[in-house]
Amino acid sequence: MTDTTSELGTGLPRREGRDKVTGAARYAAEFAPPGRLYAWPVPATVAAGSVRSVDAAAALGLPGVVDVLTAGNAESRTPADDPTLNVLQVDDVPHRGWFVALVVAETLEAARAGAQAVRVHYETRPHDVTLTRDHLERYVPEEANGGHPAVRERGDAPGAFDAAPIRVDAAYDVPPLHNHPMEPHAATASWEDGHLTVHDSSQGSTAVRAALAQIFGLAEDRITVTSAHVGGGFGSKGTPRPHVVLAALAARHTGRPVTLALPRRDLPAAVGHRAPTLHRVRLGADPDGILLSVEHTALTHTSRIKEFVEQAAVPARVMYGSPHSSTVHEVVPLDVASPSWMRAPGEAPGMYALESAMDELAERTGLDPVELRVLNDPADEPDSGRPFSSRHLVECLREGARRFGWEERDPRPGVRRDGPRLTGTGVAAATYPVLVSPCRATATALPGGDYLVRVNATDIGTGARTVLGQIAGDALGAPGERVRVEIGDSDLPSAPLAGGSSGTASWGWAVHEACAALAGRLAGDPDLPPEGLTAEADTTEAVEAGSPYARHAFGAHFAEVSVDTDTGEVRVVRAYGHFAAGRILNARTARSQFLGGMVMGIGMALTEQSTLDPAFGGFAERDLAAYHVPVSADIPAPPAIEAGWLDEADPHLNPVGGKGIGEIGIVGMAAAVGNAARHATGVRFRSLPLTPDKVR
Ligand code: MOS
Repeated sequence: MTDTTSELGTGLPRREGRDKVTGAARYAAEFAPPGRLYAWPVPATVAAGSVRSVDAAAALGLPGVVDVLTAGNAESRTPADDPTLNVLQVDDVPHRGWFVALVVAETLEAARAGAQAVRVHYETRPHDVTLTRDHLERYVPEEANGGHPAVRERGDAPGAFDAAPIRVDAAYDVPPLHNHPMEPHAATASWEDGHLTVHDSSQGSTAVRAALAQIFGLAEDRITVTSAHVGGGFGSKGTPRPHVVLAALAARHTGRPVTLALPRRDLPAAVGHRAPTLHRVRLGADPDGILLSVEHTALTHTSRIKEFVEQAAVPARVMYGSPHSSTVHEVVPLDVASPSWMRAPGEAPGMYALESAMDELAERTGLDPVELRVLNDPADEPDSGRPFSSRHLVECLREGARRFGWEERDPRPGVRRDGPRLTGTGVAAATYPVLVSPCRATATALPGGDYLVRVNATDIGTGARTVLGQIAGDALGAPGERVRVEIGDSDLPSAPLAGGSSGTASWGWAVHEACAALAGRLAGDPDLPPEGLTAEADTTEAVEAGSPYARHAFGAHFAEVSVDTDTGEVRVVRAYGHFAAGRILNARTARSQFLGGMVMGIGMALTEQSTLDPAFGGFAERDLAAYHVPVSADIPAPPAIEAGWLDEADPHLNPVGGKGIGEIGIVGMAAAVGNAARHATGVRFRSLPLTPDKVR
């Protein structure tokens, strides 16, 4: 390893940047095999029930319509492990928006017209899509998402709370949220000589191939799934989605290639959402602000066909020391679409509640909210008692406060007034676990002096090719421009998804091992055979050995908001996030990840929400006008918003030393904004988002 020439950490621009801005980068729906057809889905228009009949006659009579697939004529398949993939197999309609037919046509327009002409007759049953705190169907599941136990108890938290001199007991609400990536979920599928090829918009094509193999009863080597470029996913493309099954099914049914790009308005019901969470947090402390008890209960919903429990009480097991603790998840099955992963599942809503409650406790004790967090920073992970591999939350709080100018703050709420506008500042902590999965990779020394790295990583917009080239160059002692990187194809060495902030750590570990092995062999015998020399790596054993350490990234958010007391509008005018996430491998793409997460957190705080319509059972917001993702006009321009980090050396992670940065930027941001709104106005808001109707 030649550290003097290593490009690891340097903010190199993305390798595929030019291809993306010039349109040369092709996305799943842009592959056009000869004879390709277009598909358009027909979503159920009832909230619960079953399909009695489908009348496709009018649709089939339209010019260009080739066929209409339904549960009646689609080939029957092996049921998928994931019930959301069992579309067009049974007549049951578990929620509004469930796909009940698929129209295939010569053009996109014909497919859409056909879908509008399909008449579906339903048997309905009563539905319930409304989560309430006293819902009779609520229960405590065995596990929450991520394999976390639903309940953890330490000591006697309720008893300690009752006896505590200072108490905060508060309820917080987070509505359903949707990922809404810029590129919708899309696939182009074709069958040739029994081999299925699919171009899919996915966060991990190895898993898509496995699901298709199961569903269609094929060996995995008869399937190729590519995801060369992906226009965002945020978790919604982390698992195979119905569109890819439908595209493959329609291609087999018609004998021609088929493209299915889900219409934006169908995404909310078809590709997962962040489930709503109703929180109760109780904190007991002594008058000096030392926590005596921490209780966090998170109530959420799931669908009737799949149990997914947002693990929102999990961060309370990691964040602050206290002798007594109780963290509980409860769930209600409703007639809703199946919830799933959305950027920092668990941590994002959980830390909104916990970090808002910490702000309330700071006020109650008269402590500065930064100091309260520093006071309760634990030596070991509270839930497990394990030592942290590294924990620099205090440093993030201190350095973030310094860069933000926190010390100038007047702690009194509601005192910075300028005409109708009130200004305030808030802080919140961030955390996200270090996750890593087994991965394979190969590295080849090519005649001529170049290298080729192959791994089925996915670039969901993060710059995976670029950073893997940096990791490879570092291990090879070669400039990154000599390293070609092949990713995004299931025929490459198998790799885990781009999710759980684990992609770079997982792929990078395997790439590093393969390149280090290759460099070792080249050092022994620099004469290359004519076909080049290849080294392989498989990190399964090393990853599965696990770690005795509690491994998490940490961070601190600071926000300044301006509240218009005439209109109720809350605007973030300044924000700064400081992070400790291990070694930062590319300063440019890392900053983009942190800032992107922070922007998504501002959306969560101020504008984003999905509403389940009690009468019709569906999500009311089904386009980017109604579901307001922040745009440039909503976000202050850098440097008013900025992210920074400390260089954290942690020897207990992986050979590359990164913790993962895709998700921590969103965690805690909404609480920082909410706490700033409280400081500005003197009013405590406990229900997101802080839209003008609530604030005014
Ligand atoms: Mo992320 S929600 O694990 O893609």
